[in-house]
Amino acid sequence: MSSSSHQRYGLDQPQPNALWNDVIESLVGHRSVRTYLDTPLPEGTLDTLLAAAQSAATSSNLQAWSVIAVEDPARKSRLAVLAGNQAHIVQAPLLLVWLADLSRIERQAQRRDVQLEAPAYLDSLLVASIDAALAAQNAVVALESLGLGGVYIGALRNDLAAVIDELQLPPLVFPVFGLCVGYADPEKPAAVKPRLPQSAILHREVYSHSHERTLIDTYDQTIAGFYREQGLDTPSWSEQAIGRLRSIKTLNGRERVSATLKNQHFGQQ
Ligand SMILES: Cc1cc2nc3c(=O)[nH]c(=O)nc-3n(C[C@H](O)[C@H](O)[C@H](O)COP(=O)(O)O)c2cc1C
Repeated sequence: MSSSSHQRYGLDQPQPNALWNDVIESLVGHRSVRTYLDTPLPEGTLDTLLAAAQSAATSSNLQAWSVIAVEDPARKSRLAVLAGNQAHIVQAPLLLVWLADLSRIERQAQRRDVQLEAPAYLDSLLVASIDAALAAQNAVVALESLGLGGVYIGALRNDLAAVIDELQLPPLVFPVFGLCVGYADPEKPAAVKPRLPQSAILHREVYSHSHERTLIDTYDQTIAGFYREQGLDTPSWSEQAIGRLRSIKTLNGRERVSATLKNQHFGQQ
C-alpha cells in the first residue's frame, strides 16, 4: 500500500498497489522544495550525490556531462538574479549546475590532433543534455532519500550567455539547468502535486488521443482544487500550459538559447 500514490493522482484514499517498495514510495512522494532552512548539508553529501549521479546510464559511456557545485553566497545571488530572482537559489546551501559537456572529449581529441565533427550536430547536444538530465535526476532521487529537498532551475537558461560567463564555461559546455539542494523548511512544507492520469500519458502500441478530452478536463479540476488548497490562484493545467507556451515573451529570454548554443559550438548542424 502506498501513502503517496493517491496524492500523486489527486485521489482521496490510498490505493492498493501490488508492486511497491521504499524506493518507489520515495519517487512517488517527490515534491519540489522552494523554501529552505539555513542548516548546512551533512559532511559527504556532495560525494554521495555524485556517486548516484555518475551511476546513471550514459549514452555510449561518453559521460558527456559535468556539474558545478556553487556554495559561494555572492555567486548564488548573482545566478539568482540571472534566473528571475528566485529566492530559493540564495536560500539553499548548495546550487548544482548540471552541464552538457562535450569539451572533455574534445580535449582528448586535441591531445591526439583529431578534429571532432559530430559535436556540431544537434544529436550530440541531445546526447549530452540527456546524459546531464539523467545524472541530475539520480541525484534528486538520492537527496530525497536522504531527507533533503531540491528544485530544478530551468530559469538558469533565461540569460544563458551571462550564466556561461559567470561559470567560465568553455565551448562545448552548456548549463542545462540548476538544482537547489537543502533541508526543506518544515514550516512551509511542499505538497505532492497531482499529475495527469496514467491513461492520458500511456499509449498502447501506437499513439492515440481519442479519450484525452475528458481525462484532461477532470485533471484540470483536480489540479485547480490542489492549487486552491495550497492557497494559490493558479489556473487549470491546460490554461497554465498554454500560457507557458503561447508567446515568445513567456520564454523569458530563452528564445536566445539557440544563438548562445551556437556560440558554444553546439547545434550548428
Ligand atoms: C528542467 C526543469 C526546470 C525547472 N525549473 C524551475 C525553476 O526555474 N523554478 C522553479 O521554481 N521550479 C522549476 N522546476 C520545477 C517544476 O516547476 C516542478 O517540477 C513542477 O511544477 C512539478 O512540481 P513537483 O516537482 O513539486 O512535482 C523545474 C523543473 C524541471 C524538470
